[in-house]
Amino acid sequence: MSEARKVLVTGGAGFIGSHTVVELCAAGYEPIIVDNFCNSDRRILSRIERIVGRPVTCRELDCADGAAMTRLFETDGRFFGVIHFAAHKAVGASVGQPLKYYRNNVGSLVTLLETMRDQAVRNLVFSSSCTVYGQPDTLPVTEATPRKTAESPYGRSKQFCEDVIDDTVRSGQVLSAVTLRYFNPVGAHPSSLIGELPIGAPENLVPYITQTAAGIREQLTVFGDDYDTPDGTCVRDYIHVVDLAKAHVSALNWLSRRNDTPNNEVLNVGTGRGTSVLQAIAAFEQAAGKKLNYRIGPRRPGDVVETYANVDKSQSTLEWKCELTTLDAMRDAYNWQASLATNPLS
Ligand code: UFG
Repeated sequence: MSEARKVLVTGGAGFIGSHTVVELCAAGYEPIIVDNFCNSDRRILSRIERIVGRPVTCRELDCADGAAMTRLFETDGRFFGVIHFAAHKAVGASVGQPLKYYRNNVGSLVTLLETMRDQAVRNLVFSSSCTVYGQPDTLPVTEATPRKTAESPYGRSKQFCEDVIDDTVRSGQVLSAVTLRYFNPVGAHPSSLIGELPIGAPENLVPYITQTAAGIREQLTVFGDDYDTPDGTCVRDYIHVVDLAKAHVSALNWLSRRNDTPNNEVLNVGTGRGTSVLQAIAAFEQAAGKKLNYRIGPRRPGDVVETYANVDKSQSTLEWKCELTTLDAMRDAYNWQASLATNPLS
């Protein structure tokens, strides 16, 4: 495989990473996964291979380990670029363990950038989050919307990482980066072979909905219906994970046309539409053809009231747009959860 197509994917066994590996293969790239499986399941690898119809290389190591990363670059040969997903992502847990989040999320990026410098690898796609905006003053959120003080160490770790990339570009290191600020990734692969695998009770809305529908959780609690929004519940921009995965392929394609121009291009990746919690539940009920057991509960501390993306810049830069609907995402998430009962990971 030519080095122009070889891409290192850290966290490639995770939720967004696994879907991106599938889309990279479909687009003719050669992904090499790096994962330490601290928050992912190695059994997902054979599922990826079933979807793409060929073996996919995975190296089990911690991408914060500089010596191991150097060995990997030396053994696997030259990469066109790196997509860096690997990070801790539990907003709530990060409040009690800030150092763990900074050590891992910021530390692994620094290690990666040093290794890329030493190995002359120039292209990076970085996973950031709309959490860097906090509660925006104006909607929809553009990339020029000021970042607010982060609500959690997780959010601050993403802000730090964005700054580390900016400073590295400014320093003169030949680095061409695309920072993707994800809105809320949901759904699963339409094959039902891969999807989100939360450990323990899900923190996020859609896996909680699907686990409730599957009878694993008794009831979903809607966190507050007295917000200043059309139906009183919080509003988010839910993007199908397959559309999000394809944005990474488009980002690599864009980097290959840029020819190593030093830059950090920051792009929102969402649908551009706001959906309330009650609208998300209604979409799920329609997609699944069944009622969901839910109740209205108190607000969740720290929740952003309303956020959704302006995606003009990502659409025009990447020549990419979302093709799937919220209904598609709910159907695929539901089918994935249901498939785990009949076709468990093995
Ligand atoms: N919600 C409920 N009940 C639940 C879970 C969630 O009502 O059981 C509500 C939340 O209050 C919120 C909405 O559903 O209004 C979405 O909540 P999620 O936890 O699914 O998503 P968040 O927007 O809070 O968080 C997500 C990612 C974070 C990221 C953040 C950026 O999980 O990693 O977006 O805003 F930082």
